Amino acid sequence: MKILVTGCNGQLGHDVIKTLKKRNIECLATDVGDFDITDALAARVFIEAYCPDAVIHCAAYTAVDRAEDDEENCRRVNVLGTENIAAVCADIGAKLLYVSTDYVYGGGSEPHEVGDPVAPINVYGKTKLEGELAVRKHTDRFFIVRTSWVFGKNGSNFVKTMLRLGEQRDSLTVVCDQIGSPTYTPDLAAVICDMVTTEKYGVYHATNENTCSWAEFAAAIMERAGLKTRIIPIPTSEYKSRAQRPLNSVLSKRCLDEAGFERLPTWQNALDRYLVELGVSKDGA
Ligand SMILES: NC(=O)c1ccc[n+]([C@@H]2O[C@H](COP(=O)([O-])OP(=O)(O)OC[C@H]3O[C@@H](n4cnc5c(N)ncnc54)[C@H](OP(=O)(O)O)[C@@H]3O)[C@@H](O)[C@H]2O)c1
Repeated sequence: MKILVTGCNGQLGHDVIKTLKKRNIECLATDVGDFDITDALAARVFIEAYCPDAVIHCAAYTAVDRAEDDEENCRRVNVLGTENIAAVCADIGAKLLYVSTDYVYGGGSEPHEVGDPVAPINVYGKTKLEGELAVRKHTDRFFIVRTSWVFGKNGSNFVKTMLRLGEQRDSLTVVCDQIGSPTYTPDLAAVICDMVTTEKYGVYHATNENTCSWAEFAAAIMERAGLKTRIIPIPTSEYKSRAQRPLNSVLSKRCLDEAGFERLPTWQNALDRYLVELGVSKDGA
């Protein structure tokens, strides 16, 4: 099996390639320097030349706040770019795994099931949902994997921001009423690589297990990194950000169980391993 991966200079793509290589699966890492996914011809020429059996599509416009004032570019990458990839996959008979987001949901109070109504409340979420529709329009041989609160070694994320601010500040205000599941890229990459080698097409949720608020996540990061910064919980209404975010980002993993895929470890376990990977702690203790 031959797999082409987009977005490999980003957090998830980096670990997807690492995982495929570890499993001795033939693969090709790509990013915007190889071809721009918004250029239909460039995408077609590049992908057809490699002729993969599957594409794992991790490339995306992921700047959630910036997207509010940059809707056109965000939509071009997340919708047109995905449409270009999906069209080629359909033509060459390749499977397509598209990584989507918890931000396709609007809120509620229960863990979201994959069949629940979607109602994105920010530009990024809307364009990622339109990307899902572009995938479905072109092929039936798709996996749509909705994930949340991603952190990995290759890129910036909430954990790195907290570690930096923890060195500089005695206290930090962090939102306490948005609930979700942090997700470590090597764990997400593992289930993605499991999936793509099967024919179990469909929509999935994949995050680390257990839930928390951003404030609880921040406190756990400070504690595990040995930083003394005090986390002051505040409601979303007191935190100024350009994009609105759903209060409930919790995703049910029943879809993974039913298809026979393993759930990911807890986010606490993942955070321990991440801090070791970053060299912040030696043994995860
Ligand atoms: N990060 C999260 O918290 C989160 C949460 C839920 C879902 N997701 C989804 O998970 C996936 C992976 O996220 P991530 O955090 O790994 O993203 P990331 O670190 O931002 O990486 C995205 C990669 O895509 C590349 N890219 C952007 N525009 C491109 C284009 N026109 N052509 C080719 N490549 C392009 C970026 O290159 P440049 O850096 O050069 O632009 C970057 O290397 C995405 O689909 C994202 O929507 C992420």
